[in-house]
Amino acid sequence: MAKPARVRTIAPPRGSIVTKALSAIRSVKGTRDLLPSETPLWQRVEEEARRVFDAYNFREIRTPVLERTDLFARSVGADTDIVTKEMYTFQDRDEESLTLRPEATASVVRAYIEHRLFNEGGVHKLYYLGPMFRRERPQKGRYRQFYQIGAEVLGSDHPTIDAEVLEMLTFLLARLGLREFSLLINSVGCGKCRPTYVEVLREALQGVKSQLCADCQRRAETNPLRVLDCKVEADQAQIARLPRIVDYLCADCRKHFDGVEAELAQRGVAYEINPRLVRGLDYYTRTTFEITSSGLGAQNALLGGGRYDGLSEMLGGPSSPGFGFAIGQDRLMLAVEHAGNLKGENSIAAYVAWLGDGAFRPAAELARGLRQQGWRVEIGYEPVKLSKSLSVANKLHARYAIIIGEGELASGRYQIKDMGTGRQEEVEPARVPAYLKEKLGTGPV
Ligand code: HAM
Repeated sequence: MAKPARVRTIAPPRGSIVTKALSAIRSVKGTRDLLPSETPLWQRVEEEARRVFDAYNFREIRTPVLERTDLFARSVGADTDIVTKEMYTFQDRDEESLTLRPEATASVVRAYIEHRLFNEGGVHKLYYLGPMFRRERPQKGRYRQFYQIGAEVLGSDHPTIDAEVLEMLTFLLARLGLREFSLLINSVGCGKCRPTYVEVLREALQGVKSQLCADCQRRAETNPLRVLDCKVEADQAQIARLPRIVDYLCADCRKHFDGVEAELAQRGVAYEINPRLVRGLDYYTRTTFEITSSGLGAQNALLGGGRYDGLSEMLGGPSSPGFGFAIGQDRLMLAVEHAGNLKGENSIAAYVAWLGDGAFRPAAELARGLRQQGWRVEIGYEPVKLSKSLSVANKLHARYAIIIGEGELASGRYQIKDMGTGRQEEVEPARVPAYLKEKLGTGPV
C-alpha cells in the first residue's frame, strides 16, 4: 500500500469560528507554485523568447490544454513512454476520453488542419508557451506539470528551415546568457528508408535482446527504434554497438541531411552528430535534434525537436511538412540561473514616503500620476515614521524614496533619496517623472 502523505496542520486563527484544526491542502506531487520571487526571471526569459520569435517572424498560437486522447495516440505514438505511461487521461462525463496535453506539436498541427491554415499557402511559423503534463517521476528539472516554449514551422521541407530554426535557437540561448550547451543532430530517415533500417535493427536486436532491460525486450519486437531511446544505463554499451540509421538513409534523406549540415556550417552554428538520437516521440522524420546543457544534472536535455513531414497526414490533414522544437522552460530557468547573466526585475522605481496626515493626499496624487505613466511605484497606506518608511522602501528594493512631509509641502519641493547612495535632492513635484527618467536611464516599466 502507498505510504500516506505527510500532513501538516495549521491551527485556525484565534477567535475563528472553526474549532477543529484542519489539515493544510498541499500542491499535487510533481507540480509547484512559482512565487513572486521567481516570476520576474521567468517573465524576462519569456520576453526574450517573444522578442527573438518576433524577429524571425513567428506568430503566437494558443491551443487548449485539454485535447482528445486520440490526438496523442496517433501522433506521439501508441508505444511511446508518453502515451503508455505518462498521460493524464480521464473519461469526461459524456464518456469521451480526454487528455491533458503532454506536448503541443500535435495540438498545433491539429489546429493548423482544423482551421485550414494550409489554404493560405506559404509557410506558417508559429510559437507557443505554456504548461504540459506528464506523469513522470519528479526530480530536479523533471515535473508532472512543466512548461515549454516551442515553435513550429509548417508548410515546407526545405533544409533551410531546419537550419534557420536552429540558428534562431542558438541566438535565443546566447541572448539568455547561456554559453555551455551542445547541439546534437541526427536524421531518422523517412517512410521510404526507415523500414529497411528498422528491419536491420530488429535483426541485430535478436542477438542481444536478452541482455537488455524488460522494456527494450518488448520494444525489440513492437518498435525497435524506441530501443535507441532507452535511458537505462546498463543497456547503453549494447545500444552503442547497434547499426546506425545514418548509414541507411535513402538518397533524398541523405541529400536533406547534407543540406542541413551545409546550412548550419554557413551560419556558424556549431553541432555534433549523434547517430542514436531518435527522440521519444514517433512523429519524427529526417532531422532530429536536442540541445543539452552542462550544470543541469541528470535531466540535461534543455530542448528537443525535429522534422515531422508525415504528421499532418497522420492527423487527417493534407500533406504538409513540419519542423519544430520545444524548450523545457523549467530546465531553461535552471540553466539561466546557473549562468547568472540575466536578472529578473524585482525592484521598484520609487517608494512614496509621506509623513503627517496632510501629506497623504499630495503623496497619493503623485503616486497615481507616476503609476499612470507606467512607473512601478509603491506608497505606504498608514502614517508611519520616516525611518520605518525607508526600511519598507529598502525591503521593496526601491531605487528612490520620495519623501513628503510638512516641510516639503511648505517649500513645494519634495525630497528624493537615492536608496543606493543615500544622497538626497529636492525636486518640484511636476519634475519628478523627468527626474526618475534621467536618473534611471529608462522610461517607465
Ligand atoms: P520533448 O523532447 O518530449 O519534445 O520535450 C521537449 C523538452 O521539454 C525536453 O527537452 C525537456 O527540456 C522538456 N521536458 C519534457 N518533459 C519534461 C518534464 N517532465 N519536466 C520538465 N521538462 C520536461 C516535445 O515535447 C516535442 N513536442 C518537441 C517538438 C516540437 N518537436 C517538434 N516540434
